[in-house]
Amino acid sequence: MFESHLFIIFGATGDLTKRKLIPALYHLMRGDECSGACYVLGVARSDWTDEQFREKARQALEEEIEDPDLSAWCDDHLFYQSLGSDSTKYEALRERVDALEQDLDLPGNRIFYLSLPPRVYGKTTEAIGKVGLNDGDGWARLVVEKPFGHDLESAQELNRTVHEYFPEGEVYRIDHYLGKETVQNLLGFRFGNAIFESIWHRDRIERVEITVAESLGVEERAGYYDDAGQLRDMVQNHLTQLFTLVAMEPPSTFEADAIRDEKVKVLRSTRAIATEDVVLGQYEAGRVNGLDVNSYRDEQEVPADSKTETYAQVRLSVDNWRWQGVPFILQTGKRLPRKLTQVAVYFECAPVSLFQGTGENGDACEVNQNVLIITLQPDEGFDLQFEVKRPGESIRMETQKLSFRYEDAFGPIPDAYQTLLRDIIVGDQTLFVRGDEVEASWRLYDPLLNSDIPVHTYEAGSWGPNEHVNQIAQFSNRS
Ligand code: BG6
Repeated sequence: MFESHLFIIFGATGDLTKRKLIPALYHLMRGDECSGACYVLGVARSDWTDEQFREKARQALEEEIEDPDLSAWCDDHLFYQSLGSDSTKYEALRERVDALEQDLDLPGNRIFYLSLPPRVYGKTTEAIGKVGLNDGDGWARLVVEKPFGHDLESAQELNRTVHEYFPEGEVYRIDHYLGKETVQNLLGFRFGNAIFESIWHRDRIERVEITVAESLGVEERAGYYDDAGQLRDMVQNHLTQLFTLVAMEPPSTFEADAIRDEKVKVLRSTRAIATEDVVLGQYEAGRVNGLDVNSYRDEQEVPADSKTETYAQVRLSVDNWRWQGVPFILQTGKRLPRKLTQVAVYFECAPVSLFQGTGENGDACEVNQNVLIITLQPDEGFDLQFEVKRPGESIRMETQKLSFRYEDAFGPIPDAYQTLLRDIIVGDQTLFVRGDEVEASWRLYDPLLNSDIPVHTYEAGSWGPNEHVNQIAQFSNRS
């Protein structure tokens, strides 16, 4: 059940608030768990009034929700405070929060959600702390969107600032991939099914490929993206989270810290990445989904000589008993042929082929290795590829699959933000990245940032800079 609280969104005039946060909060506050009093205070520099904020929220909600009481819900639950730009702005915010808590009879529980440009996370946290907003009569939680830091040093510095005002137990670092049902199910799948866990190691698994492909380009985000690139924007967080969930040891309990301890251990066991184990690329003009698209350098606001990578492939090696010698290949890119997030686990081939000489021309009958494909999005589900004998006289083997699709079993999957916001409200940190975890992840990639690894080009609509990719791994499960 939700305790009564005030949910304070910094950056309330932004796109994330409109597209994700308000709809998720609406669903949560209308749901059965919200027995207490839950209210939202939007905060931003724009000089909006409560009414303007409510009107924008109502318009956004109307796009997906039919509810005759929508306006009344917005009027009752949403408030807005302009931060303006003078130095007393946070004092004014504190007074508003105190007044609202009094008027609405709230116990002083506060959630501060920073939906802001990453460069102001530290400053804003400090400002919240300096006026004592974190020191109300109830609990105070801080929520920070990714990216948490720009490299190891800045992540460490941000952790220090955050910890000055909020203990780690009240800090929620968001990686929205962890809110996806299918990503959470990696834990359910691994630790709820003894048959897979018993073969989940170096004796049975040859390699693991983790792919996050997008057909989208950089869109209108070049201002942020050109400075980040795919290593910072996707690999350090989303792909690394998937990697830790696939590679971690079983936790001692299903509690947040037990799970996060195991994830950190995997990161600490991961060998320093050699530059030969990294392929970077940048997209050239091409065709995606039947449309001609620009090269990255011709995108709005991208410098004509940009060397930012829009594609990255990294091979990770884990030096522990379970995974020694098993490569984990992480691959992600923009302007690839389609959207696909997938973990493919390649099992070892059968130790002896019984099918020598049984092929069509008396040659060896090829038997493919078993592959477990966990598709995280879209078309969420599992496929286990196995070999069967084709009906007929001679022994001809063929790959077939056992398949499961979430939608068939459970219907539509809830939005990641709704899951994450719910967990923040009830105080469950399992799906959030811990301070030491974020640093361990940066520690791995930090040496690659600003290195002289070449950035190859690839045609938009292709699967990346192929001749180089093939040096690391041949991807076979994209069709
Ligand atoms: C974001 C990245 O974190 O994740 C974007 O900043 C990327 O560049 C997005 O497009 C992908 O998320 P999803 O949920 O669409 O796979």
